[in-house]
Amino acid sequence: MQKELAMEFVRVTTAAALAAHDWLGRGDKNKADAAAVQAMRKELDQCPMAGSVVIGEGEIDEAPMLAIGESVGTGQGEPVDIAVDPIEGTRMTAMGQGNALTVLAAAPGGSFLHAPDMYMEKLAAGPAARGVLDLDRPLTDNLHALADVLRKPLNQLTLVTLNRPRHAQAIEQARALGVRVFAPQDGDVAAALLACMPDQAVDLMYTIGGAPEGVIAAAAIRALQGEFQGRLVLRHHVKEDSEKTRLQSQEEQRRCQEMGIEPGQILPLDRLTSTDDIIFCATGITHGELLPGIRKQPECATTDTLLICGKARAMHSIHSSHLLDNSR
Ligand code: FBP
Repeated sequence: MQKELAMEFVRVTTAAALAAHDWLGRGDKNKADAAAVQAMRKELDQCPMAGSVVIGEGEIDEAPMLAIGESVGTGQGEPVDIAVDPIEGTRMTAMGQGNALTVLAAAPGGSFLHAPDMYMEKLAAGPAARGVLDLDRPLTDNLHALADVLRKPLNQLTLVTLNRPRHAQAIEQARALGVRVFAPQDGDVAAALLACMPDQAVDLMYTIGGAPEGVIAAAAIRALQGEFQGRLVLRHHVKEDSEKTRLQSQEEQRRCQEMGIEPGQILPLDRLTSTDDIIFCATGITHGELLPGIRKQPECATTDTLLICGKARAMHSIHSSHLLDNSR
């Protein structure tokens, strides 16, 4: 992809994060999301590309903007797959809690898996874990294998997951091995990146979270040469088994069939994203381990964006100041 697009995407995630931040702590995650989506859409349309949303806000018939299949960009230039989460951490934004981000991943058209909006079981770690992790094996085996390859005793290993009842057994098993477990409330894109980046306090991420977030994280991890495996999980395996969840599972099964994927089948990194030519951008909305959040003063706001360019094998931290228009 043209490298000029990288700074365009920084502009896109920055604008969406600033718009989301206006709704910080106001208890309304839908309004926060709508503001971020609108800002993101406006900026994306100025990018010189023939973009197509492959991971977005939902299907054309249910999302007015950034729907899957929607065209974005000026229409001039190369075809680009766009995967976005305008707010990764809508609850945290609405509740004024840490760890909320705006994220975008882009790659040449046809590179990303068009994952349906369902759950995905995910394992992520850094480059040393390539060829070492296996979602088909118990988590404890993966922890042992990772400890071996990192040459660390198990009690020096840290696993990150999300604080959900469905992860209780994984947390218990890891702690029984002596592994330290961090369990933030939300945000498994940031967690996956932390597990993959050098000099971070986390070695492995294991979660059952959103499949769209899985594709976005996998793109960033591929650009960082790390390891990621996923597999789609039907809703009735994750949520309480009711008539409603069984119907949702049937619909998910149908979507998987359409895509030629079996739920439960391992999706290796190259199936989730088939190229290293990836641009990934994340801008912090609220403060987290991965990125500082937005700081606002009456006249000025500061933002921090992480930009990863897979082709150049480069990672940049971009700190920006924005003069605010207080005329309205
Ligand atoms: P959103 O804010 O984008 O909805 O996602 C937050 C998140 O924590 C993701 O990071 C994670 O993949 C997913 O929710 C987990 O889903 P659930 O809240 O249903 O357990």
